[in-house]
Parts: sequence; C-alpha cells; structure tokens
Amino acid sequence: MQAISLSRFLIEQQRLKEALPAELRLLIETVARACKTISHAISKGALGEVLGSLGSENVQGEVQKKLDVIANELLLDANEWGGHLAAMASEEMETIHRIPNRYPKGEYLLLFDPIDGSSNIDVALSVGTIFSVLKAPEGSAGRELTEQDFLQPGNRQVAAGYAIYGPQTLLILTIGAGVYEFTLDREVGSWRMTDGPLQMPQGNREFAINMARRRQWPPAIANYIEERILGAEGPLRKDYNMRWTASMVADVHRILKRGGIFLYPADARSGGSARLRLMYEANPMALLIEQAGGAAHDGEQRILDIIPATLHQRVGVILGDQRETDFART
Ligand code: F6P
Ligand code: MN
Repeated sequence: MQAISLSRFLIEQQRLKEALPAELRLLIETVARACKTISHAISKGALGEVLGSLGSENVQGEVQKKLDVIANELLLDANEWGGHLAAMASEEMETIHRIPNRYPKGEYLLLFDPIDGSSNIDVALSVGTIFSVLKAPEGSAGRELTEQDFLQPGNRQVAAGYAIYGPQTLLILTIGAGVYEFTLDREVGSWRMTDGPLQMPQGNREFAINMARRRQWPPAIANYIEERILGAEGPLRKDYNMRWTASMVADVHRILKRGGIFLYPADARSGGSARLRLMYEANPMALLIEQAGGAAHDGEQRILDIIPATLHQRVGVILGDQRETDFART
C-alpha cells in the first residue's frame, strides 16, 4: 500500500472529533511546501550558487550564510498571503514580521529557525528548518501585534516540527497528539508518512554534547558526563558513546529515532547564558521529544513551562531519554 500523504493525514486529523482547524492545516501545508523549496536549494549546493556567507551578521551576532537568508525569505513569502497568520518571527530577524495590510490575517503565530546548523551546509552535512506555531492572544485580532504577543510558554504550542535535509528530506511533525514522520518523495514532490506515532527508544547509552565547552559547564553536568566517559570502569559499569553533529536538528532526530540524550547546558560564558534559542529551537524540539515519550528541561525547569522574557532568549537544553535527562540536572 502507498504510504499516506501529508495532505491526507492532515485532512483526516481535521475530521476527527477534536478537529485540526482548517487554518492550521493550511499553515502546516504551507510550511511543508516551503521546506520542499529549501530542500531543493540546499541539494543544488555549489551548482545553485547558494553556498557561503553573506558577510552580514544576524541579530544573534552570527555570520549569515546565503542559505539562512534565502530560506528565511522563502518562509516569509510562502506564509504571508494565505490568511492563516497574524505574524511571524524568525531567528534571522531582529523583530517580528507582521502580515502586510494588503493580505487577510489569521489567528496563528509562526516562529522558525530557517536553517538550523547552517555551518554544516558548506560541508554537506545535515541541516534543517525548525518551526513552532502559537495562537495569537485572545482579543488581539484587529490590532497591531507586538513581540509581547509571542512571549508565551512552549506548552501553548499548537504545532511544532522540523524538516531535516540529509540523505533523505524528512518532515517531523506534531500537532499536539503524537509525532509523525514524512519523507519527501522527490520525483512526485509529495510528503509521505513513513513512521509514527514515534516513541523514542529508552535506555540507549548515547550522549550528544560539545565537549570543547567542558570547562564552562555547570559542575553537575561535568560530573554527569565524566561518569559516562568512565563508562564500564566507573560507577555506572556501562560504556557510553558520544555523537555530536553540531546541527541540533540532526542530533535531535537521531535521538527521536534511536534514543539517547542531547545536552547544551547554559554555561559560564557571559554569566551563565546559553547557546540555543527558546522560541525557535528549544520549545519546538521539547514538544516533539515529550510527545515521543522523552523529556526536556533547562537543567532545572521543564522547557515547555518557561515563560519567555524576550523573543530571542537563549536557554540551556537537556533533552531525550527520560532517565538520563533526570540524572543530568544542575
Ligand atoms: O543553531 C545553533 C546550533 O547550530 C545548533 O544547531 C547546534 O546544536 C549548535 O548550535 C552547535 O553548537 P556548537 O557550535 O557549540 O557545536
Ligand atoms: Mn539553529
């Protein structure tokens, strides 16, 4: 039997009792379509003249790759006119993007990291697009939206997901009830369901962390990793493996499918700040991981319960295996 398409999955979800709203369905289809275009641009590589840097920096002070900007524009253009959104926010833009007045407005807010792990693009490793969907606050219809309207905890996300551009292009999606995997059939241009509802395997002894930051970790995390490196010769009496691709999408995807733990703790640089962004990375990944039976915290608190103070806020991220994330607390 032919695997069902993303469109069919969404329409069937719309028909269920706790129906998926039609506007949200349209939004997800639009994001998925934009991801197809991004996938195409990435796969052309040097032939498409899309590789390399622009010589500019984004709001986070990171070098912008050409594809960061191309993917950002693609997502904005695709989502502006459909009437399903009130506003958008992106890791690559200083402030929010309101829907221009010439278009109808909807009730959703879309947040995205257009290309996650973009330092990997030029060396042909997996990168991805991460997205998160919130509802605009009650009573905001008809007035101009502000950044404040986006500052909602991750437990209010109505959908989240990522596309991963690797050996295959996949879309991993949750609309709040399970996590589903769709594979892009490139010839036909259609997303087909290839797995789901995903349940991440528990008990896999694999950790993902940037070891070079060791001296900046909180002592409890340094201790947690130290024990795992000691492996069979230490108190755990079991060996562990380490994997780090420096592309959050790729590391989280491996953990969703194979198990293990991902750690990017808040560290001692600039007074305990962190690397990953709450709204564009931590929240959507935390929702996916929890929906697949894992856990996600910032060292102390559940990520999805954090009340954001600013749009580009950074946060420590420890996610994956239930037991392992429980041990890795600060
Ligand atoms: O978007 C930030 C990011 O590139 C993530 O995709 C990745 O997990 C992390 O940063 C890599 O950090 P580092 O450069 O410290 O390895
Ligand atoms: Mn990123």
